[in-house]
Amino acid sequence: MDFRKKTVRDIDVAGKTVLVRVDYNVPIKDGQITEDMRIRASLPTLEYLLDNGAGKIVVISHLGRPEGKPAEELSLAPCAKRLGELLPGKDVRFVGQTVGDEVKQAIAELPVGGVVVLENLRFSPDEEANSDEFANQIIEATGAEVFVQDGFAVIHRAHASTDAIAKKLPAVAGFLVEKEVSNLEGVMTNPEHPLLVIIGGAKVEDKQPLIDKFLPIADRIVVGGKIAADGYTSDNEKVYVAKDFEVDENGNKLDVSMMDAAEIAAMIFKSKTVIWNGTLGMVEDPRFAKASQMTAMALGKRKDCFTVIGGGDTAGFVESVMKNNEGLEYNLISTGGGASLELLSGKKLPGLEVLQDR
Ligand code: 3PG
Repeated sequence: MDFRKKTVRDIDVAGKTVLVRVDYNVPIKDGQITEDMRIRASLPTLEYLLDNGAGKIVVISHLGRPEGKPAEELSLAPCAKRLGELLPGKDVRFVGQTVGDEVKQAIAELPVGGVVVLENLRFSPDEEANSDEFANQIIEATGAEVFVQDGFAVIHRAHASTDAIAKKLPAVAGFLVEKEVSNLEGVMTNPEHPLLVIIGGAKVEDKQPLIDKFLPIADRIVVGGKIAADGYTSDNEKVYVAKDFEVDENGNKLDVSMMDAAEIAAMIFKSKTVIWNGTLGMVEDPRFAKASQMTAMALGKRKDCFTVIGGGDTAGFVESVMKNNEGLEYNLISTGGGASLELLSGKKLPGLEVLQDR
């Protein structure tokens, strides 16, 4: 599917200070990043900018929900360190502020071809308030001449760093945003049939719009996870709701049964496109990860089927299955949770709409 927004390919970045919004909202435990998929996903754009002579690259992101106040455990310092490891030979620095003189000075000292990661945008309440003034302050402190949006997972938010700022600078998409949006829009508008949509997760109110959107398009829709365990019903014959569950010692239904999982695997083998959003059980506990494991394996082995994995937990889970099993492949493992859900549900994403059209 053609991408309708301008990308980094459409602008001249040579010698320019480029402001790149990424989503480094990654899990961190005791100061250690436990899953760096979102940082790795930002590399193609950053490498392209470096290879095409960008002067200085300023990376901005949020991490967690600090509610407008600094919180040490939500500093982006570990992400900057990880980015430095992933860009060997490049000068990657971190500055513990987002605006102001310290940022100005750090950028003045940064050599051409260097990268600086600023502190968590959400340490200021102005970020989520989509403050114009905050956007101006970031531009002023960084000297940014161009804005690149590559934080796919956050483009469903209208915040200062996704909306206000993009109205003040030439604003284009990075490769991650291009890849995610074109693949996700592609499976909605022109999927190869049979199209199977597998929906899991916990909150029915989050997933019902997705079910509604895909009912006219999909050939089958499977509903599993807590939604099914809580008694989801549908009288549409396309919809298969998991019937039996694995239970814990207290009788809580925490995974769909192996019989249902086998049924889902059989549907996968008959499909040409599969979209999976939401794990089928409580995968944090390996006892209740079996149906999701079987689904991830069945999907990853299909080479003649277009496979899209969406939703934060599902993507992380599939990444962990891939680490332990060789040869699994998927067409798109989306880095977006809410963003991919909203896009697939047919909603407009403010951080995407604001970028320059082709
Ligand atoms: C995510 O993890 O889905 C994104 O980083 C957005 O985070 P948010 O839901 O806190 O806005």
